[in-house]
Amino acid sequence: MSTSTTGWLSRGGAPTAAAKGGGAGGFVCENVSLSFPTGTGHTRLVLGPLDLSIAPGQFVSLIGGSGVGKTSLLRVLGGLHRPDPTSHVSYGGQGVSGPPAGVVTVFQDYASSLLPWRTAQQNIELGIEQTCDKKERRERAREALEMIGLTRYASSYPWQLSGGQQQRVQIARAVVTRPTALMMDEPFGALDAMTKASLQDSLLRIHAETRTTVVFVTHDIDEAVYLGDRVIMLAGSPGAVAVDAEITLPRPRHQVTTKEAPEYLRIRHLLYSALRESHENAS
Ligand SMILES: Nc1ncnc2c1ncn2[C@@H]1O[C@H](COP(=O)(O)OP(=O)(O)OP(=O)(O)O)[C@@H](O)[C@H]1O
Ligand SMILES: [Mg+2]
Repeated sequence: MSTSTTGWLSRGGAPTAAAKGGGAGGFVCENVSLSFPTGTGHTRLVLGPLDLSIAPGQFVSLIGGSGVGKTSLLRVLGGLHRPDPTSHVSYGGQGVSGPPAGVVTVFQDYASSLLPWRTAQQNIELGIEQTCDKKERRERAREALEMIGLTRYASSYPWQLSGGQQQRVQIARAVVTRPTALMMDEPFGALDAMTKASLQDSLLRIHAETRTTVVFVTHDIDEAVYLGDRVIMLAGSPGAVAVDAEITLPRPRHQVTTKEAPEYLRIRHLLYSALRESHENAS
């Protein structure tokens, strides 16, 4: 099953380099597959082959059942996994053979990603310690703290912060580097509903202000639709693109009114049905 709804993917006319993902901040995957060694001298194909373009500044939500290859695809895009030799991945027009400059990954596990002996501000400065002098570090960290709504907690240590606040620090630490692409693997998966909603809105504000490309893995269909310009669903074994849906909901989005819009409900229904079908096929 492959459902590509109308949008930039299927509009008529030749796509521009940016729309194809070739511009700064854009990804292009051609014939990308990923295999892992099985430990018995063989390999197992877990992903692809797939073709995929992500335009610069686009917010792409990535969903799919457990084990389908979402994290693997994110890591291939971020240069953390080397795909099979016949694959080609590029970022900003350059072939990816390691983490590209400007691409930053944020993981779900905030607790083990922050240094407990450093304050929130010092943790955030960590990302730019090699590249900026002290004065600039302070200024940029303060700016990132403000963006993520944590100014009051600049001097707090991670163990003095709630889970949601710690995750905000991790996001600020990524944002302070002024990334051209943010790769996020279920970053809000462990948070309660209200904290999650608040972080979603902070992320949308950051995306609107910085226009960084975002690839956001989630298990939550509502979160995927609420945040994304586009939702890609992986299904099957090996994992492949089963749904590629453009989200035309206007921005800025609102936790209540956006989720009442007919277009929101239509996409949600489409994705839920596709996810259920892929789950039934897998079991
Ligand atoms: N380092 C590895 N070595 C061998 N197999 C791996 C490795 N990492 C992932 N896999 C396998 O690749 C497949 C895809 O894993 P991946 O972590 O990408 O799934 P996922 O969609 O992110 O799942 P989840 O939603 O549970 O996080 C799985 O079958 C997994 O067992
Ligand atoms: Mg995963």
